Amino acid sequence: QVDRFLYHMRLSDDVLHDVMTRFQAEMVRGLERDAHPTAAVKMLPTFVRSIPDGSEKGEFLALDLGGSRFRVLKVNVSEDGKQTVQMESQFYPTPKEITHGNGTELFEYVVDCLADFMETKNIKHKKFPLGFTFSFPCIQTKLEEGVLHSWTKNFKVRGVQETDVVTSLRHALKKHKDVDVDVLALVNDTVGTMMTCGYDDQRCEVGVIIGTGTNACYMEEMRHIDLVEGDEGRMCINTEWGAFGDDGSLEDLRTEFDREIDLGSDNPGKQLFEKMISGLYLGELVRLVLLKMAKKGLLFNGKISTALRTKGKVETKHVAAMEKHKEGLKNTKEILMELGLTPSEEDCIAVQHVCTIVSFRSANLCAAALAAILTRLRENKKLTRLRTTVGMDGTLYKTHPQYPKRLHKVVRRLVPNCDVRFLLSESGSGKGAAMVTAVACRLVSQRKQIDEVLASFHLSEENLIEVKNKMKDELEYGLKKETHAIATVKMLPTYVCGTPDGTEKGKFLALDLGGTNFRVLLVKIRSGRRKSVRMYNKIFAIPLEIMQGTGEELFDHIVQCIADFLEYMGIKGARLPLGFTFSFPCRQASIDKGTLVEWTKGFKATECEGEDVVDMLREAIKRRNEFDLDIVAVVNDTVGTMMTCGYEDPNCEIGLIAGTGSNVCYMEEMKNIETVEGTEGKMCINTEWGGFGDNGCIDSIRTKYDKEVDEGSLNPGKQRYEKMTSGMYLGEIVRQILIDLTKHGLLFRGQISESLRTRGIFETKFLSQIESDRLALLQARRILQQLGLDSTCDDSIIVKEVCGAVSKRAAQLCGAGLAAIVEKKRENRNLEHLKITVGVDGTLYKLHPHFSRILQETVKELAPHCDVTFMLSEDGSGKGAALITAVAKRLHNAGE
Ligand code: BG6
Ligand code: BG6
Ligand code: GLC
Ligand code: GLC
Repeated sequence: QVDRFLYHMRLSDDVLHDVMTRFQAEMVRGLERDAHPTAAVKMLPTFVRSIPDGSEKGEFLALDLGGSRFRVLKVNVSEDGKQTVQMESQFYPTPKEITHGNGTELFEYVVDCLADFMETKNIKHKKFPLGFTFSFPCIQTKLEEGVLHSWTKNFKVRGVQETDVVTSLRHALKKHKDVDVDVLALVNDTVGTMMTCGYDDQRCEVGVIIGTGTNACYMEEMRHIDLVEGDEGRMCINTEWGAFGDDGSLEDLRTEFDREIDLGSDNPGKQLFEKMISGLYLGELVRLVLLKMAKKGLLFNGKISTALRTKGKVETKHVAAMEKHKEGLKNTKEILMELGLTPSEEDCIAVQHVCTIVSFRSANLCAAALAAILTRLRENKKLTRLRTTVGMDGTLYKTHPQYPKRLHKVVRRLVPNCDVRFLLSESGSGKGAAMVTAVACRLVSQRKQIDEVLASFHLSEENLIEVKNKMKDELEYGLKKETHAIATVKMLPTYVCGTPDGTEKGKFLALDLGGTNFRVLLVKIRSGRRKSVRMYNKIFAIPLEIMQGTGEELFDHIVQCIADFLEYMGIKGARLPLGFTFSFPCRQASIDKGTLVEWTKGFKATECEGEDVVDMLREAIKRRNEFDLDIVAVVNDTVGTMMTCGYEDPNCEIGLIAGTGSNVCYMEEMKNIETVEGTEGKMCINTEWGGFGDNGCIDSIRTKYDKEVDEGSLNPGKQRYEKMTSGMYLGEIVRQILIDLTKHGLLFRGQISESLRTRGIFETKFLSQIESDRLALLQARRILQQLGLDSTCDDSIIVKEVCGAVSKRAAQLCGAGLAAIVEKKRENRNLEHLKITVGVDGTLYKLHPHFSRILQETVKELAPHCDVTFMLSEDGSGKGAALITAVAKRLHNAGE
């Protein structure tokens, strides 16, 4: 009769397989971005990314709130190879005023209990990291935050739902001046259980609670978790399977008793799966069944006691006692009599059977959902057989005499291809919470170290103003006769005395040496109404051994390239005027004479410094004795750039290069240039600001990484500003930081790879790519992998941050320098307000995703009275060099 009466509660394996399939579909929905908002099973990311690995250590406090008993714990984890964990704990009551009161009181109470615990253990004087096990569904965006989705089970506290419980806890902690703890992790009890068990068994990747409530968590592949950025590794998902069926998907399985329970609960319509399973409801289910059967005359001769009519009179512990082997029947009789009933022997057997059906259904349903999780784990790992461990906790599971073995048996039957070990969490979830906190603690301290490194690249507004002012001073020293010789910013006169006026014309050759590429160009300039510039060019490589060989070899190579180009263009016979863009500091006595002061960047050819580069080029042409050229002008790339842009915009009086190297030129009043005769008009000054700071004047903002980069360069002690701002060095700075962080175990698992030791692996273009906002982290990782750096997702985030800090500082410094230049121009002209255009070139400026913006913003902030337009030089400086050549040629022909 009982079997017939409870026909609906007895679930066949077919039904269980069906439930399993439905739950599998629910998990997928909960994980997917689009389906998640309406999914019943929430599949909440927990930000716990790994099982304990034994490296956890330290002393922690833990709170364990939300199960049948509230507990405060102190956990000591020692990393001595023996993996010993010591725990002390104390239970505190949670009276109804607390579980059904208001939020402030709840958290104050929790903190009061914590304070009491610390008092009794005499540990109030010390600061502790704390892990908070909070056994309710929380939406997390990081480990130390959780917005309560809804109360479940027997908690219903006002003003907590949809707020962050960690913030509330911290708030309450603030009022307790005697308690000093740092809340580092919020964990669900399932997660705590998995971690507790995971400490003893590394195979543990599922946590299940069958207690007051029921729930499970497991390790999911990151690539399946749409709600969290990143595709690498795994993260623990709190399924909140208790809500399975809340969208009606289990209606066919729910009975009238389930509906009645639900209606009388704190949260009607919610946690429908949980209400068929967990300890809070099991006794009541039995009572409702017995009541109905008695009413129908199937039990107790149709007699009903007041107790049997009273909600909550049958508890899960009673169900467990009634099902006990041997004493079960005796217990049943006693329990029924306590309910004011007078059961017959047959009644007792029948009641026992009711208990079995109700609790077996619970185990069956849990088994089906767990089987779905296990199948998912197996499929995620692409295994035909899965060997795994499930961490278990909860009073129902722990104290019901038959429950565990029934559950285990059904699970094994439902997933025959999984070898499952069920591991009971003896010590509760507090230990696991401590493990999570330990990892969080390590991350916090690592983060602190990384932040410290990055902070050394941070420039305050005062720093930047100081840089600007010092730059201004240095500009003056370079221009003044007495100080010029010792000035670090050399302020080299270029003998370019005006910007193009559109009358330039002719056919010219140009060389462009010293940037990323070496080019030879043919430039045809037309003037008048059909004013135009046509250019033909070819890029040639300069091998490293030539850049750093002898001067003769270098210039012979250049001439070889010119010969190839003339051949290629079919103009070998023509004796064309040539403009030579030579992007190094040259001391000029006229437009066609330039003595190399010293090599910068990646060049170091011997017997060139102190020599006239035009002479060297002429001699190399002579040595070759194949063609002749008329070398008319030698031009710095900044000057070439200014002229290229000046051809379009007459207001362009500044040329800036932010490329391999860093430099600026600008039109200065002749009367200010004490190193050149004459006071009329203007002349372009090649500042060579790369040397700024070579006298130590910006050493206070140089980091140890800058010093390392300097020491490893071709010109130690020189070009300090350039080494903080230009493409050739930014990658090197990044590399030095990465090495340092790796040495401290903060990156690449502490392994310094061969590639990381390789000077120059980090080119500016990689920096630009890694920092690109459009690139997902995975792609950043791919770039790093190309560089031979095997990075995890976290590594990639850090590398990106490092790149960002270094490039930001570069752009700001460059901006501060430029602000000094525009300010100087404004003061020269005695203007309230200056409107000026800066011609810009260089790969850093052109390719980096943020450099140009930060540079411009900085100039705006530091030179508020200047309205600066930035004009990108599209055609390179070859065009400008040709324009200068055209003017020089015309003046030369006119005998000026
Ligand atoms: C305890 C855990 O052992 O079990 C708690 O420490 C958990 O975190 C609880 O909530 C679940 O079982 P119950 O029966 O107390 O709800
Ligand atoms: C080029 C110019 O466009 O930019 C060169 O034509 C200049 O003259 C170069 O030296 C600077 O940028 P980078 O990044 O190539 O050093
Ligand atoms: C309820 C809670 C869940 C918890 C479970 C077991 O289902 O919503 O978060 O894990 O109970 O305590
Ligand atoms: C280096 C050179 C300088 C050049 C700059 C940009 O700083 O010394 O002459 O303008 O690089 O290429």
